[in-house]
Amino acid sequence: MENRRPLIAGNWKMFKTCPEAVETAKQLAQLVDKNTVDVMIAPQFTALVPVSDVIKGSCILLGAQNLFYESEGAYTGEISPSMLVSAGCRYVIIGHSERRQYFGENDGTVNKKIRAAIKNDLIPILCVGESEKERESKETFNVLDRQITIGLKGFSLDDLDTLVVAYEPIWAIGTGKTATKEQAQEVHQFIRSIIEKIFGNNLAKSIRILYGGSVKPDNIKELMKMPDVDGALVGGASLDAQTFSKITNFQG
Ligand code: 13P
Repeated sequence: MENRRPLIAGNWKMFKTCPEAVETAKQLAQLVDKNTVDVMIAPQFTALVPVSDVIKGSCILLGAQNLFYESEGAYTGEISPSMLVSAGCRYVIIGHSERRQYFGENDGTVNKKIRAAIKNDLIPILCVGESEKERESKETFNVLDRQITIGLKGFSLDDLDTLVVAYEPIWAIGTGKTATKEQAQEVHQFIRSIIEKIFGNNLAKSIRILYGGSVKPDNIKELMKMPDVDGALVGGASLDAQTFSKITNFQG
């Protein structure tokens, strides 16, 4: 892995009330080793502000699980980038497969959301990944090519200097079926090659590509040994502070 600083991110999805989120964040702040990797947690929206207070001064950064691309207006139920910034967020997850599957997001809306994030100095984590059916019919590379090419269409190099990509094969999310480290490496290398083709070698070399899908304390070390795996986006195993800290502290 060139000079890319690992990022371990926890996506808490629609779990935890505010008090539960605050309690987990408090425990994590005690358990996460400082200065070895970047660590981010993304609680649900109503827990962002209280969690932000609790992790202040620790090495944990705050992220959101989604945003809307308009800056304000009559968009009932949505949240804007500046609202997330004012709640303490540095990162935002964009285009998670659950958003694509249940909430109608597509590569076009993902593109707009990435633009809105960048404009507001939020670091976007662009999620991509194929379904089981697509993998079986050997469509994986086509799907990823499309998700990345359209997702990042129209951006300049400067726009993307903080961008993170997360490869999350849908068949590995919440199923206990992790991609093998070889499968992850193969796809990460492919993603880097698409970035190189569109944006050139410098961005391809610096961009962080995370793996997500049943990451656990007992598989993180192996995954992180792969040259193109720069971190993880963790769902289920990020909900418990002890378990997640074993993942964030994988180098120890
Ligand atoms: P699991 O770690 O629960 O498989 O979820 C992965 C994920 O979707 C993270 O965004």
